[in-house]
Formats: sequence, C-alpha cells, structure tokens
Amino acid sequence: MLPSPSRLPPASTPGNAASMSNARDGSRSANRPNRWVPWAKVVVFLLALAPLLRLVVYGLTDQLGANPVEFITRSTGTWTLVMLCITLAVTPVRRVTGMSWLLRFRRMLGLFACFYAALHFATYFWLDQWFDWASILRDVTGKRPFITVGFVAFVLMALLAITSPHAVMRRLGGRRWQRLHRAIYAIAVLSILHYWWMKAGKNDLAEPLIYAIVVTGLLGARVIWALRRPLRRQS
Ligand code: HEM
Repeated sequence: MLPSPSRLPPASTPGNAASMSNARDGSRSANRPNRWVPWAKVVVFLLALAPLLRLVVYGLTDQLGANPVEFITRSTGTWTLVMLCITLAVTPVRRVTGMSWLLRFRRMLGLFACFYAALHFATYFWLDQWFDWASILRDVTGKRPFITVGFVAFVLMALLAITSPHAVMRRLGGRRWQRLHRAIYAIAVLSILHYWWMKAGKNDLAEPLIYAIVVTGLLGARVIWALRRPLRRQS
C-alpha cells in the first residue's frame, strides 16, 4: 500500500512493494527468506485486531460509556491514525536500522489502517447518522469541513487498498502504481487536518499536536532523504 520515496528500478517487471524497495537497496539480506516472518505476520495480524476485539468485549459487557457511538467513533478514528503512522514508520525504521524484513508487514498494516477507517466511517453513517443520506451528503460536501477532509482521506485510502494486490500492481505497472501510492502522504496530512479541525472546535489540541509532530517527522525524514540523494550522487 505504501511507496518508498527513493528511486525505482525500471517498471518492466514490477514486483511487490517490498521487492521493489529491496532491489533499490541492493540489500542482499532483504532477499534472504526469513522463515519466521509468516508466524510474525500472524502475530501482527492478531495484534492489529485487538482494538476491534476490545470494542466488541466492551460492547458485550456494557463498558462503552454514556455515549457508546462517540466511544466507537473515537476509538476507530484513533486506531486508523495509529495504523497509518505505524505504516508510514516502516520505511524510515527500515532505513535507519537496516531491517528490510519490516517491508513484509507494510501492506498488511496499511490495509488495517483502511479497515479501521471503514469501521470509523460505518459508525458515522450507520450508528451516528442512521443512514440519513441527505445529512451525510451535507456533511461531506462542506457543512462540517472536518468530515469533508476525513472523507477525502478515506476515499483515497480505499483506492490504495483496492490497488494493493500484486495483480493490480502488475496491471498498472510499477511506476504508475508507485506514483498512485504516494497518495499515502496526502492521506496522512488530511487525517491530521481532520483530527485537528475536529478538536480545534473544542479548544483541545494537545493530542492532535502529538500526531502532527509524529507525521511531520515521518514525512520530513523522507523529504530530507529525497533532497540528499542528488547531493550524494554528485560527490
Ligand atoms: C483516514 C481517514 C480518517 C481518520 C484518520 C480519522 C481520524 C479521526 C480521529 C483521530 C478522530 C478523533 C478521535 C478522538 O477524539 O479521540 C476522529 C473523529 C471523528 N471522525 Fe474521523 N477519521 C477519518 C475519516 C473520517 C470519515 C470518512 C468520517 C465521516 C465521513 C469521519 C468522521 C468523524 C467523526 C464524526 C468524528 C467524531 C467527532 C466528534 O466526536 O465530535 N472521520 N476521526
């Protein structure tokens, strides 16, 4: 689901995101099979499902508080943002530590971000708005700008999720696929804006500020690496 910002090999034989990045690195260790990775993927999968399980358990045991819809909306929104940040962290952490196997988890993490965004959106249109499409349309088209921005982020996320399978990547061609998946950076910015806007109305910007700093760091690292690349080639 996510591109790395650096240069790509020719798109004639597009592989998946991990193999493309590995090829760029020239990292031989990245191509060594890590037999434990499939097991680790199962663990990551179960961990990523934990926030949903928590909501189900809270729902069944009447622990969702005085306003269950608000609780679910906020929990799914927060986990969308957390999954997005973890997905965006994969490339910088891999670059700093050399742990190329991290790339093998990136698509799953990105898809979980989209999964929680879908639950978040479903909570809004189902439990909050009760399928009042006229009201939803008003919100999405600008009555509540933070929802407009969140909706755009969600639509882009869904587009990346749909185009994440290897077969679609091959169809699109590596370069076009990578260009499309750079939308993840716009999604991150829009998500912060959505959160910021929502909390600004309540004069409570402490938490959005933390996420804004994290996302700025994750995107800023990419910008710095991208700017340094030509310099390195000249020297
Ligand atoms: C990538 C997309 C999105 C992300 C990352 C995101 C994230 C968030 C976050 C972090 C919160 C605040 C949670 C808290 O207060 O602790 C939130 C609240 C909310 N979001 Fe989203 N959101 C996204 C998309 C959407 C969409 C598509 C809609 C509806 C069309 C939406 C509607 C809402 C609503 C109604 C709230 C609660 C507002 C309130 O409690 O007053 N979000 N979202």
